[in-house]
Amino acid sequence: MKHLLAIDELDREQIETLLERAESFAEVTRRDIKKVPTLRGQTVVTLFYESSTRTSSSFELAAKRLSADVVSVKASGSSVDKGESLKDTVETLSAYDPAAIVIRHPYAGAARMLTEWVGASVVNAGDGMHQHPSQALLDVFTLRGRLGSLEGRNIWIVGDVLHSRVARSNIEAFTMMGAKVTVCGPPTLIPRGIEATGCEVRHSLDDLEQADVVYLLRMQRERMGENFVPSIREYARLFQVNSRRLGPRQLVMHPGPVNRGIEIGSDVIDSSQSLIADQVTSGLAVRMAILYELLTRGGQDPVTSTPEDPVPIGEPA
Ligand code: CP
Repeated sequence: MKHLLAIDELDREQIETLLERAESFAEVTRRDIKKVPTLRGQTVVTLFYESSTRTSSSFELAAKRLSADVVSVKASGSSVDKGESLKDTVETLSAYDPAAIVIRHPYAGAARMLTEWVGASVVNAGDGMHQHPSQALLDVFTLRGRLGSLEGRNIWIVGDVLHSRVARSNIEAFTMMGAKVTVCGPPTLIPRGIEATGCEVRHSLDDLEQADVVYLLRMQRERMGENFVPSIREYARLFQVNSRRLGPRQLVMHPGPVNRGIEIGSDVIDSSQSLIADQVTSGLAVRMAILYELLTRGGQDPVTSTPEDPVPIGEPA
């Protein structure tokens, strides 16, 4: 695997391998010294044209924990503000000979375009409304950690599916791992023809009790050029998931950032049924596994120290 661009370019075996690798890295993150020398001497560039807290920080930390050198560029405040094109920006950063470029961009297909321009591995950290594959992988990892397996589980994805790259990636990943996926939201926020991806569609929360897992999506008001719902208050009345709508055995997920009191009640965010904090924790181990898979070719075991390791595990790299 040279690039990570979309979930439908992976098969179940590749996902299983990545998640097993992530288990090893999760163990590393619980050690006193959390760094391994695996990517020492390699450079990882993170290039974000859209806002991010979780994805940008966890890819940066993942690369550092693997001992890579990291160059982090946010479009805002960079020469993009002076009109530099994506291609020129990427070619400029390629002068540092990066092993990987992690990119978030508002246009679907931007990450794939990079693969034509650079020799580095490219990781899609979110391209427009298209894909967010590392989010889907960390969500599968989180759920397996809680449920053991996704086989036969009912997962409801509720909210603004239309504008959500997370929904597109997660429907594919959850289905591939054996779950039954239902998407739910007002008709204006459900893409036409989405049933072709193998999910069911609902336009009310009346049958929410069928769900083992309720995966909530943020109302992406920054991507809404027109009125998709009569009002946010009306949307919250019909689709907000709060403790009154949730049974005691149901789990709740959200990719973040949340709109408290809109798609999700504060009582749920802070409850023991919420996996939101676990999702953030998983993001680090899963993104370490992604960088490892892309940047090593049958090299050393990333976790177990070997005599060939330039820096033994347990010592600062
Ligand atoms: N889930 C997610 O992509 O969050 P950020 O926008 O904070 O990276």
